[in-house]
Amino acid sequence: MTNEQIQQVIDELKALNAKTAKEVEEARIRFLGKKGSITALFEEFRTIAPEYKKLYGKALNVLKQEAIAKIEELREAAENDIASGRAVEDMSLPGSGYELGSRHPVSIVRQEIVDIFRKFGYDVAEGPEIEDDWHVFEALNFPPNHPARDMQDTFFVSAGHKNPLLLRTHTSSVQVRAMEKLKLPIRVICPGRVFRNEAISARAHCIFHQVEGLYIDENVTFADLKQAILLFVREMFGADAKIRMRPSYFPFTEPSSEVDVSCNICHGKGCNICKGTGWLEIMGCGMVDPNVLEANGIDSKKYSGFAFGMGIERIAMLKWQVNDLRHYFENDLRFLHEFDSALEV
Ligand code: PHE
Repeated sequence: MTNEQIQQVIDELKALNAKTAKEVEEARIRFLGKKGSITALFEEFRTIAPEYKKLYGKALNVLKQEAIAKIEELREAAENDIASGRAVEDMSLPGSGYELGSRHPVSIVRQEIVDIFRKFGYDVAEGPEIEDDWHVFEALNFPPNHPARDMQDTFFVSAGHKNPLLLRTHTSSVQVRAMEKLKLPIRVICPGRVFRNEAISARAHCIFHQVEGLYIDENVTFADLKQAILLFVREMFGADAKIRMRPSYFPFTEPSSEVDVSCNICHGKGCNICKGTGWLEIMGCGMVDPNVLEANGIDSKKYSGFAFGMGIERIAMLKWQVNDLRHYFENDLRFLHEFDSALEV
């Protein structure tokens, strides 16, 4: 080993000017690779006389550290050039691509429901998620202390006043706002998120989504309600779907009913989804109680109307035979990706 040999590598390193990542990598191999010039000097170092070891050892180590630092510096510069778009590496390399998101199953079904009712001439109305007691309960014929309030366990934001703030338990509150604001006749649907203080299980969640509907005009009858629901169900579940109405109770409708749709899995024969009955419950509905119309300044002698409300997750579960509501909220990509193709619907 001679001083000249070492000096030559130092000069080469000084003159090194690699611009692209590829050139930097080639330089690294040239200097520090298995057959690189610095590696070769280290090989030779093993054979030199012991009295020179200290001197040359130090010089070689300094050289190696400098080479590593310089190559690292050049690599960073090359990467920055690529990141800032100053350098285009290899145009034939595959691009990094964009991961496109897809729509959530709840939003797909919400859109489907909205589209069906839009076709029937309904407008979409939205309202606040943090509501007051008046819009969620009182204007809907739930007086304070009425036992029907127990049907919807409520999250209160500020309790204790006359008109406390709370998280809406249904989007019927938006129907009240529609009655306050819109001119008659009214034909709206109200999609949105609702909140109930329920224990989370396969069939219940403290957050879910609803679409509620309201139609108020002169001479609206229960037959109109039944026909509107039948048309919706046929659009949603297929032309051969049937409905069944069972008497029920809601403070804001009279008479009230719950609607079942014929099971689209076993077609009425009975299966474990419909628990052997052939029917699946999908919504509540009824004729708007005259008290509700009057509370919202509508003449109940002249006008009548119907209202209905359904849970979007419930419809989505039936449509795709999902057996656990919690899947909709956990955002497991394996679950969500199953609905990618549903976008084309
Ligand atoms: N608001 C009711 C609920 O959330 C559903 C409903 C709406 C029932 C309209 C009748 C009429 O359970």
